[in-house]
Order: sequence, then structure tokens, then C-alpha cells
Amino acid sequence: MTNKAIYVQPGGGFDRVTLGTSDALPPKPGEITVNIRASSLNYHDYAVVSGMWAPTVSRIPMSDGAGEVVATGEGVTEFASGDHVVSTFCPTWLDGEPEVDDMSTVPGDGIDGFARQQVTMPVTAFTRAPKGYSHAEAATLTCAGLTAWRALMVDGALMPGETVLIQGTGGVSVFALQFAKMAGATVIATSSSDEKLGRLEALGADYLINYRKDQNWGDSVRRLTAGRGVDHVIEVGGPSTLAQSMVSARIGGHIAIIGILSGVTGTLPLLPVLTRQLRLKGLVVGSRRHQMEMIRAIDANDMKPIIDRHFSLEQIVEAFRYQESNRHFGKICLDI
Ligand SMILES: NC(=O)c1ccc[n+]([C@@H]2O[C@H](COP(=O)([O-])OP(=O)(O)OC[C@H]3O[C@@H](n4cnc5c(N)ncnc54)[C@H](OP(=O)(O)O)[C@@H]3O)[C@@H](O)[C@H]2O)c1
Repeated sequence: MTNKAIYVQPGGGFDRVTLGTSDALPPKPGEITVNIRASSLNYHDYAVVSGMWAPTVSRIPMSDGAGEVVATGEGVTEFASGDHVVSTFCPTWLDGEPEVDDMSTVPGDGIDGFARQQVTMPVTAFTRAPKGYSHAEAATLTCAGLTAWRALMVDGALMPGETVLIQGTGGVSVFALQFAKMAGATVIATSSSDEKLGRLEALGADYLINYRKDQNWGDSVRRLTAGRGVDHVIEVGGPSTLAQSMVSARIGGHIAIIGILSGVTGTLPLLPVLTRQLRLKGLVVGSRRHQMEMIRAIDANDMKPIIDRHFSLEQIVEAFRYQESNRHFGKICLDI
């Protein structure tokens, strides 16, 4: 059977995105075939498709994929035909200590991703999807959901009553707000938009800061926490936000180094890291085990992701243009 697939040509760029076909092979032992029904956009996918981190070969983009199992190979007992599954960002990192330090095994970057109708992959490249989730909802979890989960729950060991700072209203940050509230934390949220701040408040954010109007927002965070600072920072801005994040964190506080929205290099004021004894912890999404633990928590709390807009597979470039405009709040999905 011939299935549709999106390709980005070597060098990347929106004008080098083409619609083609990709045939999924029958599953070998230990593999499953999945009809992919949805994907979701991440900044990482934007970087690959736009050419910022261009592929060197013709590549099917998108790290996130969710859909329905349609065939299982010999020896597969975890899933059966009809099961709803969601892909993992690091298909080779199943459990234990971090193993991934580049993108060579990541779908949509080092290997072909999920902008296609059908795939055959090792069963370990998927987990089951949360109960009652649509395929689009499940597809939001692979990258953005798991990154927020790991930063707070795994690396941060978040406790009820602690305070979390989130930056902006993209996929990772909105998930971090939801997980933090689920765990009983206080959340200070920032955005460039007052309208988006209102939406963060409706989702449970306790304190709101417009980072465009309040350039020294680190001081405001300290005031809001009676001078103490926050326990955890979900740092997605990169060089333009890290210094203020360090002002925001409490002595010994945890800064999850996640994003590079303002670039990949900058000047780091080292003294506050030393004197305030900060824990700067980089991360690459999470393991399959982390994803299973996150989905168990989602099931137990009936948490649903925030999806801003849906586009069709063929509208992938339009979807990335929308992401580029920063008008979105939470996730943008592709229905496949
Ligand atoms: N390390 C990892 O494993 C990992 C995993 C996932 C994502 N990431 C990274 O995390 C970052 C966010 O990813 P995403 O997919 O959530 O992105 P996204 O959905 O595209 O988020 C964009 C939003 O971030 C806010 N923003 C943009 N520039 C900002 C800046 N300079 N300072 C503060 N906020 C800013 C804006 O929110 P407002 O409009 O509200 O201001 C914007 O709408 C990216 O750099 C991505 O590469 C890393």
C-alpha cells in the first residue's frame, strides 16, 4: 500500500518541503506497524524543516507521532492491533541514566520521523497513549510533554508547595504549568502578551509577568516570593533569559536548561551560579520509562494538553509559519 509522506530536502527550507510517498514494510519480529494519525510541532521540528538545523539527506520530518497499531511482528506482546500508541523522542533510550547526546537516533532529525501515514518500527519506539486521548492530544506528549515532565518530576523532584517559574506560552511551558499545578506547586508565568497571560491565569498560574514590559523580571520574581526566589525554572529562552532566570532562582535552586529560543551562545555570569549555588541541569527530553510514568500520571489526573490549532499534513509549511509567528498558545497539531 502506498502512503503519503512529507519530505524536507537536504539543506532544508520551507520551499524544499515536498509531498511524496513512503511504504511501510511488514513488521519483522519485535516490530509494529502503526497508522500515524497525528503529529505535533516543536521548535526542534521547526529548526529541521526551516533549515536552521538542516538535514543532510532527504528526510521525513516530525519527532512526534501518534496513531493506531495495525500489525504486530513475531514476539510482540505489549501491543495488539487497534491499540492507540504514541512515539518516543529517544527510541534507543529505554530506561536508566541518559544515553542520548545527539540527534542521530531522533525521529524527524537523524532518522525519518512521523510526517507520514504509516510506519513500521521496533515496538520500543512507542508507548501506549493516555486513556481517552485523541491521536492529536497523544502526539503532543512525545517532545514537549515529556520535556516538561522530566524537568519538573524527574530532574527537579518537584514537591507540593514548591514554586515554579515558566517562560512564555509554547508547548513545553504550558505543559510545565499543567504538571506543576497537578503536583500542587505555585506557578509564576511570564509571557510577551497580556492576552496570553490571561489564558495562563485561567489554567491556574498564580502570578503573571509580562517579560516585554518588565525587563528585570527576575527582581519581580524575587519580590513575589518574598525575596527567596523560585525552586525551579523552566528555562526555554536561552541566552536572553538565563541571567534573569538566575536572579529568579532561590539559593540552591534548580534551573532546567531546556531551550534556545534566543540563540545557542551567550555570556554566562558565573558568579551568581557559584554564590547562589544554583543547579543548572541540561536535558534532552526523556526515556521511554519516563514517558510511561508521565502517561500514568496523566491518566490518574485526567489531564488534557492545550492544543491551539490543527492543520492537515499537507499544510505543514503553513503550520510552521503559524508557529514562527509566535501567536500560538500551547501546541500546534497536524492531523494525518
Ligand atoms: N532540551 C530539550 O529536550 C527540549 C525539548 C523540547 C523543547 N526544547 C526547546 O525549548 C524551547 C521551547 O520549545 P517549544 O517547542 O515549547 O517552543 P514553542 O512552542 O515554539 O514556544 C514559543 C513560545 O516561547 C516564547 N518565547 C519565544 N521567545 C522567547 C524568549 N526569548 N524568551 C522567553 N520566551 C520566549 C513565546 O511565548 P509568548 O508568546 O507567551 O511570549 C513563544 O510563543 C525551544 O528552544 C526548544 O528547542 C528543548
